Amino acid sequence: MDVFFAEWVSLFLRWFHVIAGVAWIGASFYFIWLDNHLTEPPQWKKDAGIGGDLWAIHGGGFYEVAKYKVGPKQMPEHLHWFKWEAYTTWITGMLLLTWVYYFGAQAYLIDPNVLPLSTGRAVLYGLGFLLAGWLIYDALCRTRLVESRWFGVLIFAIGCGFAWLLTHTFSGRGAFIHMGALIGTIMVANVFFKIIPGQRKMVAAVAAGELPDPKPGLTGKQRSVHNNYFTLPVIFLMISNHYPMTYQGDDSWLILMAIIAISVCVRHYFNLAHRGQRQPAYLVAAALAFVLMAAILSWPKATASANTASSAHSEATPVMSDADALALVQTRCASCHSAAPTDSMFPTAPLGVMLDDLAQIERWSGRITQRAVVTRDMPFLNRTQMTDAERQALGDWLKQRF
Ligand code: HEC
Repeated sequence: MDVFFAEWVSLFLRWFHVIAGVAWIGASFYFIWLDNHLTEPPQWKKDAGIGGDLWAIHGGGFYEVAKYKVGPKQMPEHLHWFKWEAYTTWITGMLLLTWVYYFGAQAYLIDPNVLPLSTGRAVLYGLGFLLAGWLIYDALCRTRLVESRWFGVLIFAIGCGFAWLLTHTFSGRGAFIHMGALIGTIMVANVFFKIIPGQRKMVAAVAAGELPDPKPGLTGKQRSVHNNYFTLPVIFLMISNHYPMTYQGDDSWLILMAIIAISVCVRHYFNLAHRGQRQPAYLVAAALAFVLMAAILSWPKATASANTASSAHSEATPVMSDADALALVQTRCASCHSAAPTDSMFPTAPLGVMLDDLAQIERWSGRITQRAVVTRDMPFLNRTQMTDAERQALGDWLKQRF
């Protein structure tokens, strides 16, 4: 297929997906904020069945919001539903997953160093993970466990199992994107199977002039709170493929779960703060954990390259010549990163990075060190079989030269 066509389709789907996602998560943030800020209404509103009262000013106007304890006595003429934001986010997300990771499975999803899979099998596993994840989560939500304070811990532990399995099945970025897709799928399924049907029942009762049964509303609320805690992790996972230091390496499943824990902590702080309970310990702990994680992940590599650099100086080991370095980049990188790439998978230089001469190498030197020497996720899936010694030599040369 024409690669330019493929890129345009990918651009369109991604753009659409991000817009829908912004609308969905925005609405989710807004309604959680709203619920957490409701105050006790005056008596006359209480008499009308209103349980929570809120005033706001935005965009040059005053808003008065009333939340009914259960439902109004009469069906209003216009009732707004919030569901298409969620559905379009999921639909465009699945199309994008299929377009980029399933059609491009050999490039993005399958890493033969992790598990040599056929395309068909990889896609089957990917979809299987999504289905299994939802079924397990939903089954647990139907038990009494869901009322427990430890429910979050249980879901997190199961999440660890999934993260481990995913990172031992797919390439690093394929694993992370599937974790994101899994959480997103659970969120949308909560909307589709629980929240919206519950609301339909409530609306039907109000339309029939009956008092709605509060139970489906409460179940919907519970799932909606779960969704709220899922939002920050899912956003990180969607942008994670820009940061190979998170998904590259043997412990990537631990990093994934650490970032999830940190972002849930941040969400929890804000949920409490909305209700007037300021507990900065959550925010401080999350910030410290983030810095600690960054330090642990970067420390060994930073010192290792510093050591080799100093030993190279003290023993006066000569770094390679410019000509050798250029030749190395030509053999290991130029099949993709060139004005005229030869790799069948990438007919245009990925991200516009061309490494045909010294000036271009200089321009990208920082990123080359990061990707080929430190995180080692370039060459892409090591398709050109670069050795560790070559990475070291390239790193030393870059350091001295630029
Ligand atoms: C098989 C094709 C292929 C080969 C070979 C390859 N790359 Fe890449 N490279 C890619 C793709 C695809 C991307 C964009 C995707 C991404 O960022 O993960 C990329 C992105 C990059 C980027 C830009 C990303 C950033 O972090 O800003 C750099 C720098 C890079 N590669 C360096 C190298 C170096 C150095 C080599 C050789 C040692 C190399 N690549 C070999 C496919 C390749």
